[in-house]
Amino acid sequence: MMREQEKILNLAVEKILNYLEENQNPATPVVNYQSANLLQENFDLSLPEKGIGLEESIPIIESYLNHTTRTSSPKFFNQLWGGFEITGLLAEMVTSAANTSMYTYEVAPVATLIELKLIETLNNIIGFNNGEGVMVTGGTNANMIAMLCARNKFVPEAKKDGLDDKKLVAFVSDKSHYSFLKAANLLGIGTSNIIKVKSDIRNRMDVNALESAIQLAIIDGKTPFFVGATAGTTVAGAFDPLLDIAEVTKKYNIWLHVDGSWGGPVLLSEKHKHLLTGSELADSFAWDAHKLMGVPLICSFLLVKEKGTLFEVCSSGGTDYIFHDDENYSYDLGKISLQCGRKVDALKLWLSWKCYGTSGYGARIDRLFELTRYVTEYIRDSPDLELLIEPEFVNICFRYHPANGNFSAKELDSINLEIREKLMRSGQALVNYANYNGQMAIRLILANPEITEKDLDGFFSSFIQAAIAITKS
Ligand SMILES: Cc1ncc(COP(=O)(O)O)c(C=O)c1O
Repeated sequence: MMREQEKILNLAVEKILNYLEENQNPATPVVNYQSANLLQENFDLSLPEKGIGLEESIPIIESYLNHTTRTSSPKFFNQLWGGFEITGLLAEMVTSAANTSMYTYEVAPVATLIELKLIETLNNIIGFNNGEGVMVTGGTNANMIAMLCARNKFVPEAKKDGLDDKKLVAFVSDKSHYSFLKAANLLGIGTSNIIKVKSDIRNRMDVNALESAIQLAIIDGKTPFFVGATAGTTVAGAFDPLLDIAEVTKKYNIWLHVDGSWGGPVLLSEKHKHLLTGSELADSFAWDAHKLMGVPLICSFLLVKEKGTLFEVCSSGGTDYIFHDDENYSYDLGKISLQCGRKVDALKLWLSWKCYGTSGYGARIDRLFELTRYVTEYIRDSPDLELLIEPEFVNICFRYHPANGNFSAKELDSINLEIREKLMRSGQALVNYANYNGQMAIRLILANPEITEKDLDGFFSSFIQAAIAITKS
């Protein structure tokens, strides 16, 4: 490498490490919030005719980092991920340095074996004894390919001839992720053929309602083909009862998919894995390592119980120019993927797993549950806060609702929205909100085990102060 490149790389690493350290400083805002219009004025987006030279990239990198939302800050509770393991960053650097694509063994030999090892390991954890899988672009994509597998099982000719008039219908809970609707759109199922089954008081799919909906669809001349259960719903963090659902899908011979994009890795915790009892009864399973396992985005899997399914569903003709019939032909993962070029996403999880071990992940997840208990108690003990959902996972839905206040439902909604906005604009915290049963819920996610009880005390102190300022004004 040329000396100049080496110098710039070292300098860039120094800036990145400074950024990561700054993220941990209590004085650093989680975001220097600017509207899109303002940011376009303040950040030079122009692409020049004449290049500026490598050295000039350093202040640009610094400026980029200063304008990011600091997702590894202990004030970030907004998404189903936060913070990441440094092994992930290391592996991403190595992956980019080796710059290859996952379609063939010959261009990605070690990465292919690593991906296969991860797939075998995850299948064992889920309970798929003869399973297969592929890394995908996210849980959304995993859910879509799972639905495609089910579609092609029920209408095998669909791959070649397109869909006939079988009127396929799929079932998910009314708390499931929107990706199932996207899948139905893309696969020609139609979004109105996704039946949203009502959930029970714990936000879990109501199995009696599922069975009734299936029976109704059959009477209507439709073909139930897919049930998407969720392990860890996006807002409430609920786990659908897999054992009971599997009984129904077996009875009606329907494909059972588990969307474990968020909660799948709970299987790594001895203490909490009971939440997914029955996972082995599914036909497919979506697993995101970039959420609960703290691997940098994207690191996502679709696991399928029956070997051979993905080739059947995803392979196409016209590939002899790339997949050559040699001794490693069976290792070419491109044949079972919907992508052609595909980034190496396996190394970051594999390296992290090697460094921290399976028990390290168990401890990580247990710690997040422990922090959830802390927050839950905090909210329960506060006269100003109301817990809206009894947490079963690491999602905490609550709101400002002072016991001695006299606010209408509408006022409470707008006060809570304003609090969230105020915290974001001041950089004090980033926490999300969602409509929960017609009420505005603040959704706080604990995905980063580096967060401490003290950080959480700090968050609630800012939250209440913001609430007082808003309600007094
Ligand atoms: C339950 C659930 N499923 C699927 C997804 C989509 O995952 P991804 O963002 O990896 O596409 C999410 C995202 O938050 C989710 O919460």
